Amino acid sequence: MENRIGTRPIIIAIDGPAASGKSTTAKIVAGKLGYTYIDTGAMYRSVTLRVLRSGLLDALRRDAGQVAGLLRDLTIEFRGDRVFLDGEDVSEAIRENLVSREVSFVSSLKPVRDRLLELQQSMGAARGVVMDGRDIGTVVFPDAELKIFLVADPRERARRRHAELAKKGGSATVPTVEELEEEIRQRDREDEQRTHAPLKRHPDAVVVDTSILTIEEQVAQVYGLAVKVLEG
Ligand code: CDP
Repeated sequence: MENRIGTRPIIIAIDGPAASGKSTTAKIVAGKLGYTYIDTGAMYRSVTLRVLRSGLLDALRRDAGQVAGLLRDLTIEFRGDRVFLDGEDVSEAIRENLVSREVSFVSSLKPVRDRLLELQQSMGAARGVVMDGRDIGTVVFPDAELKIFLVADPRERARRRHAELAKKGGSATVPTVEELEEEIRQRDREDEQRTHAPLKRHPDAVVVDTSILTIEEQVAQVYGLAVKVLEG
């Protein structure tokens, strides 16, 4: 860890489509800088889990206003690598297929975005954070000193997600690369086309294409950009 004491802490916003390498990059860069990593996708996934458990998903498709009741006493916290929803460790549950399938719909709802926006802005208020998601540079922290837009070829992203799921093992059968590619493309479409805070590059964001980069290479690029900002 190279905690850059003496330099004013900054916000690093990393946005990009599904499985482009945001969380891996963000986590390592945050560790190197002594910053806090905030995975906003995990927050949207946590709300989705709450919706699924409530049995209200279909009702929300007809009347999104009903989501307000589910957001009222919501708490989401990060403790180290783990995410807690209302005090329960949901780190594994939020990665399940059903959550992945429904998260873009739940994330498109205005009351959900408003609530999480508030939470995310308070989590990053002291700066010294690396936050990844879809709208961090455009909506959550448009004043982030460094904005990155991470992209990669959809087939390559599907391969990475497949390898990640296969490595995790467990009882669930792993979808094929083709199935994952379809799911990723579908989620990208929904994230790009929604009305509220769609996935799009901020004009100041630096595009990093990770299609042919190793993790070490993409970390080195983002870390290098951060050091430049901190020393600049
Ligand atoms: O890791 P993966 O690429 O599968 O996605 P994620 O970062 O866990 O985010 C899951 C979903 O949450 C995205 O597909 C978006 O629909 C939503 N999301 C969002 O709307 N805004 C964010 N800032 C982060 C995630």
